[in-house]
Formats: sequence, structure tokens, C-alpha cells
Amino acid sequence: MTVQTLMGPNLKLPVIVAPMFLVSGLALVQACCRAGVVGSFPAANARTLDDLRHWLEQMQRFQQDNPTAAPYAMNIILLDKMNDRKAEELALAEEFRVPVLITSVGDPTAVVSRAHGWGGKVLHDVVSIRHATKAAQANVDGLILVTGGAGGHTGQLNPFAFISQIREFWEGLLIVGGSISNGQSVRALEVAGADMAYMGSRFIATEESMASPEYKSIVLESQASDVVLSPVFSGVPAHYLRKSIERAGLDPDNYSAEDVKIKNIKAWKDVWSAGHGVGSIHDAPSATVLIERLLREYALASTKPVFGG
Ligand SMILES: Cc1cc2nc3c(=O)[nH]c(=O)nc-3n(C[C@H](O)[C@H](O)[C@H](O)COP(=O)(O)O)c2cc1C
Repeated sequence: MTVQTLMGPNLKLPVIVAPMFLVSGLALVQACCRAGVVGSFPAANARTLDDLRHWLEQMQRFQQDNPTAAPYAMNIILLDKMNDRKAEELALAEEFRVPVLITSVGDPTAVVSRAHGWGGKVLHDVVSIRHATKAAQANVDGLILVTGGAGGHTGQLNPFAFISQIREFWEGLLIVGGSISNGQSVRALEVAGADMAYMGSRFIATEESMASPEYKSIVLESQASDVVLSPVFSGVPAHYLRKSIERAGLDPDNYSAEDVKIKNIKAWKDVWSAGHGVGSIHDAPSATVLIERLLREYALASTKPVFGG
């Protein structure tokens, strides 16, 4: 199935702007969809279930008022111990017929049969071949490979290795994330065998993102070498910006889980995440301007002559 068959005719660029806790709100999602890429948000960004209902009502109205917008996606964490309101989030997704669900950590089987009932698509986010195999068996509509260098709970695998191995058994929609900051990289993923790019960190530094001005400044100042991998803050390995660790009152080269506990430092809220792609983020434009730039870069990269050609 082609990307357009699954994502509709309004997609202008094969990009999903990835869900980011405390960063992706409705302004960002709507700007992305209006500009022709899939916008998304984690259900957890709506603090209460009433808030989530309100967000989904607004997205429903947005879709009605913007018939040429690309579809939007909502992210649901499937692991019970990380999300105690998963059932209610899914019930709301069903009520509002959310067009695309991005599921992470857990078994998507039950979600897939439910979502297909209302015509929704399910994309499952994986960091290993084992989890990709299981998700493929669960009949998901797309696999999202989170590769090494990604923001948030990063994967470890090299994208070339990961894509090649998954393509040995998966012909369906393949979306790949990790350090994608420009249109050239989106095109490169297609050449490598993927269908769509999954872009997170690049969109932290946009006008519409909910990140604080200080978080955005640190993103603009940081290089790939300022991205620190640590399991300490959230309990699983994730990438954090060194300067945000300093700002939280820790020595980024010497801190323990105990220090984090004593100072009551919370992942995502007090220490901030971004992937290796941060080194090529130099401005914080509107999402519309950024997506127009991505379109130009992608078009230019697509005309690059091949070797010997
Ligand atoms: C600040 C931040 C918060 C994130 N929160 C979530 C989340 O709530 N759910 C999720 O599935 N992924 C989350 N991610 C991971 C992204 O969805 C995506 O996999 C990643 O940003 C892609 O890599 P990149 O940041 O290098 O582009 C987060 C990433 C960042 C940077």
C-alpha cells in the first residue's frame, strides 16, 4: 500500500511530526496538518481525560474546517505501569474516530482490531527487530523504527541496519525516526527503503511548540556531542541535553539516581530531551515556514544526480 493510500491525498511530504511529551500541543499539530504533514500529540499531554475530550473536540472541528489538511495522530502508551488511563484514551479515540494512532511500549493487537473498526490506522513504535516482528504479527498498518540518536527514549540500532533487516519481512508502511532535521534526510530515508520520516526534536524549536523559551534556546545552542544518554531520569535510557542537566543543578558528568531523587528532578519537565540531530537546528521558525523549507530541501535532494548519471 502506498503512503497516500494510508495517509490520504492531503499529504505533501512523507513526514510525521512525532509526539513529544510536554512539547506537542494542538497549535503545533494543527500547523503541521495544515502544512501537509502528519501532526501528532501524546494523549498524556492532555492532563485530564476531560482535557483530552476537549482536545479531540477541537481536532474534530479542525478537520471539518480544514478539508485539505493532512491527518493527525494521537500517541497512546500501551504499557499499564506507564499509563493507567490507556482504556479511557482508547475509548475517546474510538468516539472521535482518531484517524491515526501511534502506539508505543506494549502489545498493539487489541488496539489494531478496535481502530480498524472505525477506519483508524495504527502505527507501532519499536526499537528492536523482536518488537517489530511482534507488531507485524499484530497486523499494524505501519512500523515506526526509532533508531540510534533519537530524542526521547531512543533506539540503539543504526538506521541502515534496522531498515534493511525489517525490509526482509515487512512490505508495509515503514516510518523511520532518529536525528532527522532536514528534507535531505527525509529523501535519504526513502532511498534506504523507508516510506516516511518521523521527526521530533527539529519541531521543539518552532513557534508553536509548547517548549519553554529556555528549552528552545538550549536546543539552538547544543551540538550532537551535548546529547547525553541516561537511564537515570525516567528509568529507561533516554537522550537529554547536557545544559538542561546543568540547569537542574547537577554535574552532567557526575550524578547518581540518588542525586536526582533528592533534588526531585523530573524527566521531560526539569531535564530536557533532544536527539543527535540537534546540532543542525539553528532557528525556531513557525512550523509552516519549517515545513515549506523541508519541502524545498526534499525536492532539491530528489533531483540530485546519481553516481555516473
Ligand atoms: C521532548 C521529547 C518528548 C518525547 N515524548 C514522547 C512521547 O510522549 N511518546 C512517544 O512515543 N515518543 C516520544 N518522544 C520520541 C519521539 O516521538 C520520536 O521518537 C523522536 O523524537 C524521534 O527522534 P528525533 O527527536 O531525533 O527526531 C519524545 C521525544 C522528545 C524529544
